[in-house]
Amino acid sequence: MVQLSISVCLLVGLLGLFLLAPVQMAQTPASMCTPLKTLNDSLSHRRRYMRHNFPIKYTIRVHHNEVFKLSNISRLRLQVEGLDELVLQRLWFQVNQGVLKKIIRVMSERHPSRAYTAELERRFKDAEGVFVQSHPAEVFQQELPEMIQDTWDNLTEEPDRVPESRWRYVSPKSLLDNFCHTMHCLFSECFASTEAQQDCEYHKGL
Ligand SMILES: *[C@@H]1O[C@H](CO)[C@@H](O)[C@H](O)[C@H]1NC(C)=O
Ligand SMILES: *[C@@H]1O[C@H](CO)[C@@H](O)[C@H](O)[C@H]1NC(C)=O
Ligand SMILES: *[C@@H]1O[C@H](CO)[C@@H](O)[C@H](O)[C@H]1NC(C)=O
Repeated sequence: MVQLSISVCLLVGLLGLFLLAPVQMAQTPASMCTPLKTLNDSLSHRRRYMRHNFPIKYTIRVHHNEVFKLSNISRLRLQVEGLDELVLQRLWFQVNQGVLKKIIRVMSERHPSRAYTAELERRFKDAEGVFVQSHPAEVFQQELPEMIQDTWDNLTEEPDRVPESRWRYVSPKSLLDNFCHTMHCLFSECFASTEAQQDCEYHKGL
């Protein structure tokens, strides 16, 4: 009898593991990796297009919540209990959509980096499309943890109503650096090599 209940427990335990495993481990569906790697290819030219074609010390005005770095990820992981990676990934898409829009807005049609940035945005949207398709719709209707919801609301605030103290002036290159490093960190399954590890592990201790 005891034997039997032990085996039953084991079986239930194993079943539980199998049921939980996909939720906890497969944060990034494999289908995401192709568009993200394409995006990564574009980002590898960011120095050339985001530094050389802009005046020295050129900055763009962004909302302080659009400064989304590895340190933010570490901080949010510490502050928000049980924070789901998927929520951070959603936030990453939300933030960087705004960032790309702001970079494009400062460039004239004939700016030498315009085509590059437009392509980057297209590739970003492709990745977002795959992201949305590869998760059940309910996931995107789930209530967000309060702090994330706060950030979200701040990001979508009417720009006219944002007081000066909440804007930051950041170079386009460093906006794309943040974009790239946080991507490697949040979608580490697609960037398994050194880059993701370095980007993420290093900041885990913060
Ligand atoms: C991402 O881009 C970097 C160059 O910025 C490159 O070294 C790396 O191999 C790329 N990673 C993947 C997985 O494509
Ligand atoms: C990231 O941290 C900075 C402070 O270092 C803050 O101003 C910004 O709002 C944070 N971004 C997000 C998305 O939480
Ligand atoms: C959002 O903006 C409010 C001010 O309107 C600020 O008090 C709050 O700290 C911001 N939230 C985050 C997460 O940055």
